[in-house]
Amino acid sequence: MLALSALTLEVRDGEFFVLLGPSGCGKTTALRIAAGLEEPSEGSIYIGDRLVNEVPAKDRDLAMVFQSYALYPHLSVYDNVAFGLRMRKYSRSEIDRLVRETAATLGIQELLRRRPAALSGGQQQRVALGRAIVRRPQAFLMDEPLSNLDAKMRVQMRAELVRLHRELRGTFIYVTHDQVEAMTMGERVAVLHQGLLQQVGTPQEVYDRPANLFVAEFIGSPAMNLLEAEPVRVDGQPGLRTADAFVRPLAALWAVLEAAGARSAVVGIRPEHLAPQEGENAEFAACFEGQVDLVESLGSEQHVTVALPRGSLVLRLPAARRLPIGSPLRLAVAPVHLQLFDAETGRRIGP
Ligand SMILES: Nc1ncnc2c1ncn2[C@@H]1O[C@H](COP(=O)(O)OP(=O)(O)OP(=O)(O)O)[C@@H](O)[C@H]1O
Ligand SMILES: [Mg+2]
Repeated sequence: MLALSALTLEVRDGEFFVLLGPSGCGKTTALRIAAGLEEPSEGSIYIGDRLVNEVPAKDRDLAMVFQSYALYPHLSVYDNVAFGLRMRKYSRSEIDRLVRETAATLGIQELLRRRPAALSGGQQQRVALGRAIVRRPQAFLMDEPLSNLDAKMRVQMRAELVRLHRELRGTFIYVTHDQVEAMTMGERVAVLHQGLLQQVGTPQEVYDRPANLFVAEFIGSPAMNLLEAEPVRVDGQPGLRTADAFVRPLAALWAVLEAAGARSAVVGIRPEHLAPQEGENAEFAACFEGQVDLVESLGSEQHVTVALPRGSLVLRLPAARRLPIGSPLRLAVAPVHLQLFDAETGRRIGP
């Protein structure tokens, strides 16, 4: 089995680029190959115009931040940050200037004399970052650097990393399995699955127009509703028959579906695109009749699972609306919000 196959990625100068995918999809392998810590069995790696396949890791001018902070426990914060500079024979005054500047950027000036054991996880994380940024390499490679932090600290560090990226104007390649991190931090996101690149795009592109069923399911929480469907014509009217409703796509989308010759399809609907409706309306692409089955309240909004005669749907609603369990609910979706996938290949159908 290959950890990665035929992966072609171009990260732009100064970009915050995110590699996103589930555990085992090859993210760390890709990063280690870029860093020179792992050798690819084939393919070329360029940094700028320079082919670096034969260049050892230490000469690639990259800094890597690992999931485990890997600080030297017997050294102070100051010496941890200064370590790489000493190895590279920077002068004492130059080291002092750079360490203090970096500490100020990361807000760790007060901690310089402490040992790592006397720091919180978030503080250790910042020291690890400090060690990476102190010598301004060409690019920063980060492998799930926030995964050891608690939820609140993660949100804070997310914002700090984005700010740091803006200040340093460096190229960041950031690995995560967390789609929220990818969406909030990345300028562009590459989604990987089983060693294969699924899609590259801005977070919004990947969210709005997932290239296939894997990306559609992986990005977004609650996940996109996916309904198996059969393309049919009823009294000359084209549409998709799902277990619970007849779905009428826009004519243009139907044309693409017909041209693709898909025999079975999957209809995708984001939870925010389902709306409770009172009456019938010809402008809807579909109406689903069901009953409220589960309500998860998040304070600001609620996620509601509606049981249909055969399947179920999840929708997102404002918190104010009261929905007793078991009450009937009719859900409608507008044609522009329908997404279609080929059930056999998983590929997106349409624009
Ligand atoms: N040294 C190795 N020898 C053989 N197979 C390996 C080695 N390291 C990783 N793999 C395999 O390569 C695949 C990709 O692993 P990788 O560590 O890149 O995944 P990942 O996306 O970083 O996952 P995670 O989110 O769990 O860190 C996995 O199937 C893994 O089992
Ligand atoms: Mg990994």
